[in-house]
Amino acid sequence: MRIKVLLISKMERNIGALRSMIDDADIAVIGESIGGSVALDKIENTSPDIIIMTLGAGDTDVLSLAERITLHRPRSFIILVAENLDIETMQAAVAAGCHNITEFPSSPKEFGEYIKTIYNNESLRIKSLSDKDTLVWASTVITIFGAKGGLGKSTIAANLAVKLAEKRKKVALIDLDLQFGDLHIFLDIEPKDTITELVQDVMTPNIDSVRSYMAVHSSGVHLLCAPKSPEYAELVSAEKVQSLLSLLRSYYDYVIVDTSPSFNDVTMTAIEASSIIFFVTGLDISILRNSKLSIAILESLQQTDKVRLIVNKAVDINSITINDVQRIIGYPIWAKIPSDYKVAVNALNRGVPFVTGAPNSKLSESVSLLSDVLIKGSSNYSIMGKNNKRLGKKFSIFNKKQ
Ligand SMILES: Nc1ncnc2c1ncn2[C@@H]1O[C@H](COP(=O)(O)OP(=O)(O)OP(=O)(O)O)[C@@H](O)[C@H]1O
Ligand SMILES: [Mg+2]
Repeated sequence: MRIKVLLISKMERNIGALRSMIDDADIAVIGESIGGSVALDKIENTSPDIIIMTLGAGDTDVLSLAERITLHRPRSFIILVAENLDIETMQAAVAAGCHNITEFPSSPKEFGEYIKTIYNNESLRIKSLSDKDTLVWASTVITIFGAKGGLGKSTIAANLAVKLAEKRKKVALIDLDLQFGDLHIFLDIEPKDTITELVQDVMTPNIDSVRSYMAVHSSGVHLLCAPKSPEYAELVSAEKVQSLLSLLRSYYDYVIVDTSPSFNDVTMTAIEASSIIFFVTGLDISILRNSKLSIAILESLQQTDKVRLIVNKAVDINSITINDVQRIIGYPIWAKIPSDYKVAVNALNRGVPFVTGAPNSKLSESVSLLSDVLIKGSSNYSIMGKNNKRLGKKFSIFNKKQ
């Protein structure tokens, strides 16, 4: 198939000059126009693949025509041939939505190659825009939620973030426990700026401005700290959180969000923006009761297909078994993390996550496993103890479909 080219220029001699530069078996000149609304009709009737337009000094009408074409016929790609390719001309062209701008060609061979390259690149771009899969960003937003305080949400958030960063993933850790967030303590970071300063100072955030409010941990994790004092929590709106998360997800492999143990606007926004919800629960009847109530809320909001149930502080000797947990909550356990008070508290007090400070501990092993499963594509895996009835000591991954 030949590339169909339409030539547009106000000057007759430019059309002639351009024609003489097109001599390629793969390219066919299908028409020419002097510009203006006649050009639009011509485009409509001929559906060119490429429109070549000449641009002289001060040709604002050419640029506004180019802008209209770009907007209304995105599949006809524009090449601007400028009389004088200076910075101002280039800036004006880019502002009009044209990024293919060149000087008058010096040989048909060179021009032919240029046209074909532009056509191939632009076709690929258009294809990827209409290809649904490529629109789904590969980034994973994980919200860590639990129906009570003290379940280990922040412990899991901090250690998982560091572990993923150790595995060379780009990780953002967001402390949305807006009143009592303490992720900076887990990472031994003295917060300078927090999410409050960010939403107060920056009206239209971009990734650079957001990053300038994040602290960088030695592992490479970027942490957006919770407000310094509980009364600042209300300055952070759900709308701000929503735009923040959608911005971050296009720059990080993993955005990990820690939450407070209550349903509020901000938590709900994070949950809805997530691809995965780590729902942390534990082995006592009060936690299970609250967990069941919370899961019912998530069900009513149609969020449960994202839920991965994690039993933290799991101990072998307990009157409540995994089967009990699954029966009470009504969902399969996706992972369990053993109880090791010494390792967990020591890590917290030192501000060194156990995945780094105690890499051989069972806790570390289980979080490392979690990160592996996430990286490999989590949804089809279940991380469980070998014994499904009692909480086994060892961890294993088996690809049991949920
Ligand atoms: N697997 C574990 N074994 C033993 N102790 C743990 C474990 N996980 C967390 N802990 C300890 O439990 C306490 C609470 O943990 P953490 O702060 O992570 O909970 P949280 O769910 O974030 O609580 P909050 O909702 O109050 O923020 C901490 O002292 C932590 O060291
Ligand atoms: Mg916490």
